Amino acid sequence: MTERTYFITTYGCQMNEHDSERLAGMFEAEGYNKASAPEGASVVLFNTCCIREKADTRLYGQLGHVKAMKDRRPEMKIVVGGCLAQKDQALIQQKAPYVDVVLGTHNLASLPRLLRESDDGPSFEILEQTEIFPSALPARRSSPWHAWVSISIGCNNACTFCIVPAVRGKEVSRRVGDIAQEVQGLVDDGVVEVTLLGQNVNSYGRDLDGSPLFAHLLRELDRIPGLERVRFTSPHPKDFKADTVAAMAECRSVCEHIHLPVQAGSDAVLKRMKRAYSRARYLEKLEMVRTAIPDVAVTTDIIVGFPGETEDEFQDTLSLVSEACYDAAYTFQYSSRPMTAAADLPDHLPKEVVQERFDRLTALQTDISLDRNRALVGSQHEVLVEGPSKKDVGKLTGRTRSNKLVHFDNDGSPTGSLRTVEITVGHPHFLEGRPVGEVSEPPATGARLTLPMVAASTGCSSCA
Ligand code: 5AD
Ligand code: SF4
Repeated sequence: MTERTYFITTYGCQMNEHDSERLAGMFEAEGYNKASAPEGASVVLFNTCCIREKADTRLYGQLGHVKAMKDRRPEMKIVVGGCLAQKDQALIQQKAPYVDVVLGTHNLASLPRLLRESDDGPSFEILEQTEIFPSALPARRSSPWHAWVSISIGCNNACTFCIVPAVRGKEVSRRVGDIAQEVQGLVDDGVVEVTLLGQNVNSYGRDLDGSPLFAHLLRELDRIPGLERVRFTSPHPKDFKADTVAAMAECRSVCEHIHLPVQAGSDAVLKRMKRAYSRARYLEKLEMVRTAIPDVAVTTDIIVGFPGETEDEFQDTLSLVSEACYDAAYTFQYSSRPMTAAADLPDHLPKEVVQERFDRLTALQTDISLDRNRALVGSQHEVLVEGPSKKDVGKLTGRTRSNKLVHFDNDGSPTGSLRTVEITVGHPHFLEGRPVGEVSEPPATGARLTLPMVAASTGCSSCA
């Protein structure tokens, strides 16, 4: 029998990265092997994103490219999944009728069935609600040391720029016990770092019996021996409260990093975005976390050019960025999305105005990041070794607990080990360093293909 292979291209956020690991796990459970390129693969899958318009354009470009391959090899299958598929099923059918399978964000588990059905013609399925939590599916993790762990899916907020609630649905949390059991299994397999994923991790648990808090979940996970690092993304500033900060400060494994998306520095813009906090309130929360965890690194997301944004309002964003003194910021140009309230607001800004503001913002943040990273020179940090640096094989790469990328002299530290590194140079987006002290052993690692342990259904939240 000829070898069956798959190739996945992932667009967008960590949630999609994680979904792709589940899709890869299902392919492997069905006997497919991973292909190194789309050319020659039996199935090519695009896991799509629709948060900004560029992602749409990129997908259709890529589809045109694989269509040429399919013309040469008609037995090859093309699958489109993820948020754009959820939003645009009909459009994909119309623009790319050669696509074999379309599946949305709620039915990853249907992939093997839809693939089989596509032997008889295109097989499209979009559901409005998740039936099987993705965590109940097998996963093929891209790293033996790190794992994404989904704690909730969907979002109950209504930020006016954001399409996520329309394509990912209402928030559904997983039970604390299910999450802890999954993390324990991962640690048994050699994982030392997990990143908890949710659109708004601080509203975690509100839909479960007993309404367990996110802080409670952090404390439960902190009790797992061998789990060195817990990260999470992202909290919503309106729901980020003292109990989470206390748990972050108290839990050994919870890393000293918080990603707290601010989006804008002007109260008027925040109001038009329906973010439900003011600039002052946001800064108070930053102060609270910095007081409790003095060496915490803070990163954020900012949107430039929201409809009606005046120069004065943009100046408020610049001054907030100076005041907040972020370690890094992910900056985005506003992109009008269908099914969002902001799309109907007046005064969408011309591209040149947005670009010019965007350039000023990124220049300011680059200077701040450089200052903050230079201030680390001479300090020592625990680095989780990720392997040889892509830029220079004489160096190793890893991340500090504060999530800063460090390139350091290759002393043979094994991938997955924790190494103490002294910072020698600070750059805006990474650090350089030299290892100090002894090389440590990595934890023993098991297979990267994790089979599901819990058949979690999203329908039931009655026994948290
Ligand atoms: N335009 C630009 N950026 C957006 N984001 C979400 N929606 C949009 C949009 N319509 C950004 C926000 C969010 C991040 C994941 O993407 O900053 O925090
Ligand atoms: Fe989108 Fe706001 Fe929900 Fe984040 S909290 S996913 S920005 S609606």
